[in-house]
Amino acid sequence: MTNPSKLRLGVNIDHVATVRNARGSAYPDPVRAAKLAEAAGANGITAHLREDRRHIRDADIDGLMAALTTPLNFEMAATEEMQAIALRHRPYAVCIVPEKREERTTEGGLDVAGDDKRLARFIAPLREAGSRVSLFIGHEASQIRAAARIGAAVVELHTGAYCDYHYAGEVDQRDAELAALKEGAKLARSLGLEVHAGHGLTYETVAPIAAIPEVMELNIGHFLMAESLFVGMEFAIREMRRLMDAARNA
Ligand code: PXP
Repeated sequence: MTNPSKLRLGVNIDHVATVRNARGSAYPDPVRAAKLAEAAGANGITAHLREDRRHIRDADIDGLMAALTTPLNFEMAATEEMQAIALRHRPYAVCIVPEKREERTTEGGLDVAGDDKRLARFIAPLREAGSRVSLFIGHEASQIRAAARIGAAVVELHTGAYCDYHYAGEVDQRDAELAALKEGAKLARSLGLEVHAGHGLTYETVAPIAAIPEVMELNIGHFLMAESLFVGMEFAIREMRRLMDAARNA
């Protein structure tokens, strides 16, 4: 994405589509949200085309590819259907995530270590097509090493447990998660991987993650869309950007 020296913010616009689909209406349009996010300083847009199309739909991906001026980070499960869609669009980045139909959101990281041969075969054509392949994983060393081994360019570390512990008031577990994320980021970087992080991040939880020097990009969606209801998308994104920069430069 644009400025390599600065921590980048990828804005996930999935939940604009969630609101649209709740009423089966034509609005709100996730592409319009993505353009607003770009204008507010997003360095990229993230969208997850789920197998069940519960939020983003195929036509949204067409619209995003046509309209964006920043890179699209296309999140998808490691299925043949999604691979074909990614190969048709050749987005800047493809982030492979685990997906279960019954989950409300992406609950854990990919098991790269346990599925390395299949995933290596799966990502090879995506890499050849020019997309940067990212794997959404937990901070376990075995997963990070496996991601490097199979040729991913990027790992996105799952910050969901850290955020959940924070809001549950379980400070010791939260701090242990944070320490593990820091170690994971260090290991990933030492193996030549670019490090991203995301899931569940909010104004309250973003600073310690933004302060991890190896982390180059945060992907944030649900909280930003929720906060936009009260303060507007531009303010919400600018405030998140301000908190990220303050933590990074502290
Ligand atoms: N990163 C990845 C890989 C995700 O799957 C998600 C959720 O779609 C996010 C980041 C953003 O999480 P949230 O919407 O909780 O900010």
